[in-house]
Amino acid sequence: MDLQRLGQAPLLAAALAVMAACGVPPSAPRENAPATASSAPQTPPAMVEAPTAQPLLLEIVGADGARLSGDPAVGARLYRALCQSCHAIAPGLNGTGPSLHGVVGRAAGAVPGFAYSEANQNSGLIWTQETLFAYLERPQAMMPGTTMVFSGINQPQRRADLIAYLSQQSD
Ligand code: HEC
Repeated sequence: MDLQRLGQAPLLAAALAVMAACGVPPSAPRENAPATASSAPQTPPAMVEAPTAQPLLLEIVGADGARLSGDPAVGARLYRALCQSCHAIAPGLNGTGPSLHGVVGRAAGAVPGFAYSEANQNSGLIWTQETLFAYLERPQAMMPGTTMVFSGINQPQRRADLIAYLSQQSD
């Protein structure tokens, strides 16, 4: 059901959101520009904020072979309900768990000043969208010995929504 809402338009918007998140401005399709375009004022395209309400296309392939997308706004709500009691999203703020600011793309066990378990510290994992997707389903199964006391999230779409949110928390 969740995958049915993935029409072309949201996918395009998600792709643009990814580009915006990476700081790559979407460039105008030059080959289609009319000949007079060169005389037009060279104003840069307006900087559009990442449309956080739009689904974000993720680097995670679902059971049906299609890439998942996640809704960061839903993910933010899930984060507040399930993670915030132990994890701050602000940089440099550790609680029961380490800050999750910028977690997507960083090595496991890398937050300064947080006393990780050996299991986490020595896991050799990089927290990509895909490894987070597996970890958050059942943390203790993927990382035996972790001190994160959290049973996991069964629903793939919920994990995707959370990861979409986490992916945006890196500025
Ligand atoms: C009961 C407290 C608690 C809750 C709730 C919790 N965590 Fe954790 N989390 C921890 C602890 C403690 C660690 C450190 C684990 C270790 O060192 O083995 C951790 C580690 C992590 C890590 C690895 C971080 C790193 O720098 O390697 C990620 C990612 C993570 N948690 C994500 C989440 C997300 C997302 C949620 C919500 C769905 C969540 N956690 C809920 C306590 C919690």
